[in-house]
Amino acid sequence: MIQIDFQNVLRESIGQRNGLDKRFFESYLKKRQPLVKKVLDSAQKPGYAFLDLPKDLKTVQEIEYVVEQEQKRKWQNIVVLGIGGSALGGIALQEALLGTYSNLNHSPRLFFVDNVDPDYVNSIFSLIDFRKTLFIVVSKSGGTTEPMALFSIAKEMLIRVEPKYYADHLIFVTDLHSGLLLKIAEKENIRVLGIPSKVGGRFSVLTAAALLPAALAGINIQKLMVGAKKMLETIQKTEDVKNPALLLACLQQLMDTKKGKPMVVMMPYKNQLFRIADWYRQLLAESIGKNPKTGPTPINALGTTDQHSQLQLYNAGPDDKWFIFMEAIKPGVDQKLGNVLPKEIGFLNGKSLDQVLKASLQGTVGSLTKNGRPNINLKLDRVDEEAVGGLFMMFEFQVALLGLMYKVDAFDQPGVEQSKIITKKILSGKN
Ligand code: PA5
Repeated sequence: MIQIDFQNVLRESIGQRNGLDKRFFESYLKKRQPLVKKVLDSAQKPGYAFLDLPKDLKTVQEIEYVVEQEQKRKWQNIVVLGIGGSALGGIALQEALLGTYSNLNHSPRLFFVDNVDPDYVNSIFSLIDFRKTLFIVVSKSGGTTEPMALFSIAKEMLIRVEPKYYADHLIFVTDLHSGLLLKIAEKENIRVLGIPSKVGGRFSVLTAAALLPAALAGINIQKLMVGAKKMLETIQKTEDVKNPALLLACLQQLMDTKKGKPMVVMMPYKNQLFRIADWYRQLLAESIGKNPKTGPTPINALGTTDQHSQLQLYNAGPDDKWFIFMEAIKPGVDQKLGNVLPKEIGFLNGKSLDQVLKASLQGTVGSLTKNGRPNINLKLDRVDEEAVGGLFMMFEFQVALLGLMYKVDAFDQPGVEQSKIITKKILSGKN
């Protein structure tokens, strides 16, 4: 269950300048309620097929079968080669549900290689024994330069150490209808799992693109899908401010177009949720940034860490941002502070770390609210599979709504494709 506290976008909390009039806000949502149905009715159209994923139990079963087979091989490392929508969802899942440092005490270790910086790639490849590593190459289009470049290194190394069985160390996740990866897979007998053609790259977190690595690392993907399904049901059943996706979409559009806030800062007070903010950054930016007048700029920050690097700007700098906080009501584990501090800071004695974290969030929210800066708080009961599945679906639905509200195609990315084409030309000497 995700609660959204939006009190601090209203006039009574933050004043006339940036605050929304409650009645105006409610009628704004009411008028846009039909868009929810419009999105729901579009599941068959290209792009919108992410809506059908929670029902797709066949994919979950297929993934679980692969996981069962691969577990027998006792891989030491799972290495995902992919970029953008083919990496960010998996990274977000790993951090949210296994934790930042899970590779230190978790087997198999899970690495995402989502750049072609040689030093970065070497820092991972030099750590692993290729004979004990399963590589998952993820690319919706099946031909993106970065994962293909990384795949070439991995393949050559695998052929060196396992000349006969290198293909057993590889699984491709791609569109099953087209693309280079598919051709390579057919030729070299490499296993392939599909990303449905009508699901876009940045909407693919609930497909094998992220679910396969997550399941291989021990995340319960069934529960994740249950969370996404429950969220979809909530969106189907609720209206106005009770509808989380509609609420978020309307807030985003109003803040951007009526309150002069082209930037949105997503700032979880929970390390586990930080990479979800990263995933959201791509989702919002690539989906809505489509012409010189349309495209909110998403920014990520982490509380409390960035209180000490960004908050000065947020509180006193240009009044061009609004804020989405996220917190988990219950921590996975809490820790009592030591009773050893001098009286000058004695208010900490007897407290726990989570109390300090929550008080700091209140401090940030309090200061922004005092300064008339609009902010909302998304409260998860705890960070678990269901909550995370719900978050993904909620944000994807919000962004689909925003596509309709801003009248842009939320599912294409011509600006990304343009750079892919130029890069390929340069590398082929045809520029
Ligand atoms: O959302 C998108 O489609 C893109 O940002 C892609 O995720 C990114 O470019 C990677 O593409 P692909 O998965 O085809 O390799």
